Amino acid sequence: MSSDRYDFDFLVIGSGIAGLFYALRVAEHGSVGLVTKKRTTDSATAWAQGGIAAVVSPNDSFEDHVQDTLRAGADLCHEDVVRHVVERGPSAIDALLKCGVDFDRDGDGDSLDFDLGREGGHSKRRILHHRDFTGREIENTLLERATRHPNIRIFEDHCAVDLLTAHKAGRTQANRALGAYVLDSRSGEVLRFQAPITMLASGGAGKVYLYTSNPDIASGDGMAMAYRAGATLANMEFMQFHPTCLFHPQAKSFLISEAVRGEGAVLRNGEGVAFMESYHEMEDLAPRDIVARAIDTELKRSGDDFVVLDITHRKPEFVRRRFPNIFARCLEFGIDMTREPIPVVPAVHYCCGGVRTSLSGETDLPNLFAAGEVTCTGLHGANRLASNSLLEALVFAEAAAKDSIARRSQIPETGEVPSWEHGDSTESHEAVVITQNWDEMRRFMWNYVGIVRSDRRLARAQHRIDLLQNEINEYYWDFRLTPDLVELRNLATVAGLVIGAAQFRKESRGLHYNLDHPERDAERFGRDTLLQRGEAPRLSPT
Ligand code: SIN
Repeated sequence: MSSDRYDFDFLVIGSGIAGLFYALRVAEHGSVGLVTKKRTTDSATAWAQGGIAAVVSPNDSFEDHVQDTLRAGADLCHEDVVRHVVERGPSAIDALLKCGVDFDRDGDGDSLDFDLGREGGHSKRRILHHRDFTGREIENTLLERATRHPNIRIFEDHCAVDLLTAHKAGRTQANRALGAYVLDSRSGEVLRFQAPITMLASGGAGKVYLYTSNPDIASGDGMAMAYRAGATLANMEFMQFHPTCLFHPQAKSFLISEAVRGEGAVLRNGEGVAFMESYHEMEDLAPRDIVARAIDTELKRSGDDFVVLDITHRKPEFVRRRFPNIFARCLEFGIDMTREPIPVVPAVHYCCGGVRTSLSGETDLPNLFAAGEVTCTGLHGANRLASNSLLEALVFAEAAAKDSIARRSQIPETGEVPSWEHGDSTESHEAVVITQNWDEMRRFMWNYVGIVRSDRRLARAQHRIDLLQNEINEYYWDFRLTPDLVELRNLATVAGLVIGAAQFRKESRGLHYNLDHPERDAERFGRDTLLQRGEAPRLSPT
């Protein structure tokens, strides 16, 4: 077999909770290649502070969790999916506990009761957490097991470039996924990773915007690759802004978890007024879209750069024990959150749209599965309920693993697919072209496709993305691939999808607010926006 080709039973793209959990499950039944474009721990999972929502308390019920999710989702969640996910919450938690994940307990640590946090939109305390670095605890535990598993081979610094499909391989039979072309960032070679089943778990796309709570890897690679390969995406207009990111010139992307408001912190404007009272009956714990828009309104009205989040009324020992990570990080910037309020602003946090999947996590490109933020499963609707995403990732990774294992023996081997064609491409000595395009795009996305949109702003963004996409496409084929160039092309694809979907939805709902169409139009737009290569955006039939 040639040196640019690897073969596995299962190919996993991404090393967050969805990718690792899936890999551990399918590894009992075959070989697994897991590619991750930087280090294994560079994932949005590892940055998740708040926790994972699940019904584990006698004071809570599935029905309450379902209703909270539906309410936050602004009538666009798929109720069957919501029930499916919520009802699997306790077993998902159980699976994590069996892997060795440690969640905080009440009292002195011997108690069997979980210490449950609360976040925006939840009517009950139901967030299991590990202090304020839950994601890191989950990531490290799963990663440790995956690294030791004899059937899992992990490739760091390997960046997926495009999906391999039957059609790309020049075959006339029905299309299906066959793996991926993957750039080895150290050698610059593009390799063929072939597998009968491919799992996309590559995370979100926060880097499409200038300000984001996401890690640098969040460049929408999986969404863009799936789109290019012909899979259907949905609801890309629903980009979630987290209301409270630390405002400080050196504090790149640092989130102040909603759990801080769950423990009583209050948002105040420049005049010291606790303004959420006048926006929603749940005040500081209203759903995220409402809080982010309220902050945006306050900032536009006052001309201030930030609002503040105040938890100084709670005991300092409690704050330090419950939020050790946030406390320490704020202190690095000279802010002692036990004595003074924290300056905060909204920033892009989570993409509620993505690659459309069935309940078993399969996309409409056969043998391509997906789980986690890269997907649109129908759970989040027009606005994700806080801490539902780690739960979604687990439930869909588990379902996808079951289906993949059952299917594996029925799928023919992938056969030979052509090697990557470098053609006449040469080394680029002009990295500045990439940074220029990148900065320009992220800025106009922030200004024109942000928390509050209008038809005119969206048309401006469309004009600019058309120009950029043409320029990037030319550049892409003329020069040798680098991870930055791969990311830039993916970011531009995703930006185009967000703009297209936002222009198509001529109403306001959840995270999509358009000044020219301020009302919800249930009759015309009470369904998902579907996006497929070569076709105009359309609404789902149901
Ligand atoms: C947070 O801790 O505020 C983030 C939790 C989430 O986005 O689900």
